[in-house]
Amino acid sequence: MQPMRPDSSQGRPPVAVRATDIRKRYGGVVALDGVDLTVEEGEVFGIIGPNGAGKSTLFDILCGITKPTSGQIEVLGQDVGQMSPHLVARNGVGRTFQRTAVFGEATVYDNLLYGRHIGFRHSVMGRMFGSATYRAERDAFKAKAEQVLSLSGLSNERDRLASVLAYGVQRRLAVAVALMSDPKILFLDEPAAGMNGRETADFVALIETIAPGRTVVIVEHDMTVIKALCQRALVVVDGRPVTVDAPDQVFKHPEVISAYLGAEDD
Ligand SMILES: Nc1ncnc2c1ncn2[C@@H]1O[C@H](COP(=O)(O)OP(=O)(O)OP(=O)(O)O)[C@@H](O)[C@H]1O
Ligand SMILES: [Mg+2]
Repeated sequence: MQPMRPDSSQGRPPVAVRATDIRKRYGGVVALDGVDLTVEEGEVFGIIGPNGAGKSTLFDILCGITKPTSGQIEVLGQDVGQMSPHLVARNGVGRTFQRTAVFGEATVYDNLLYGRHIGFRHSVMGRMFGSATYRAERDAFKAKAEQVLSLSGLSNERDRLASVLAYGVQRRLAVAVALMSDPKILFLDEPAAGMNGRETADFVALIETIAPGRTVVIVEHDMTVIKALCQRALVVVDGRPVTVDAPDQVFKHPEVISAYLGAEDD
């Protein structure tokens, strides 16, 4: 995979995500209809819009899970248009999903194990005979797991089954799993959905802790989360980008107001 041309603009922060004219059709459904998006490195960036606007589709495309019908996508300097999700992840991209959260029948610690696979590439023989590199990587994993448990406030939950955790804690665990690969960019799809006020506040605090040194892109309906965390937000309506602005400003845009009023009438 060839790196794309470096950003030629002078004095601008490096770009973490650049999507140009992204279109996606599912049969007769136009899920994305010409989305342009630029996220700077180190930014916490929000994506909002009514249900069915195309937010998750856009996330899936940026992470290589879904291929666009047309358009160009550069993430962390790589053209991910035709890259497998696995390679995109290896390149430093982590994500959480809107619905799938965690493996309920596994402990918190074992859930973190599933997050390690990206950097973990040992042969079966290496594992069976405990090669030096395997042992070194296993020890590094354990150290990483301890760090992530502590960072995400899950140290006391490490041996509990994920299914017995409160909902907000399960969502936090999903972020912790993504952190195991130490992503340079983290995509979070409705991470605070269904959380109560206290869980949401804890979640905001977690993201504030982990955001420095990486780029975070959040899809979220809860505007308190977007306002607390994001420098800028993109509003998508019916697959189209309507405006990109500070979270306090986007709801002044007439098309955003009418889209949300229309959604309430549904
Ligand atoms: N695999 C698919 N096959 C067919 N249509 C799809 C598929 N995935 C999404 N769509 C359609 O594309 C549109 C955008 O869906 P998407 O899930 O991206 O919206 P969203 O903004 O994430 O919505 P929500 O806020 O409800 O999560 C919707 O009309 C949806 O029904
Ligand atoms: Mg969605």
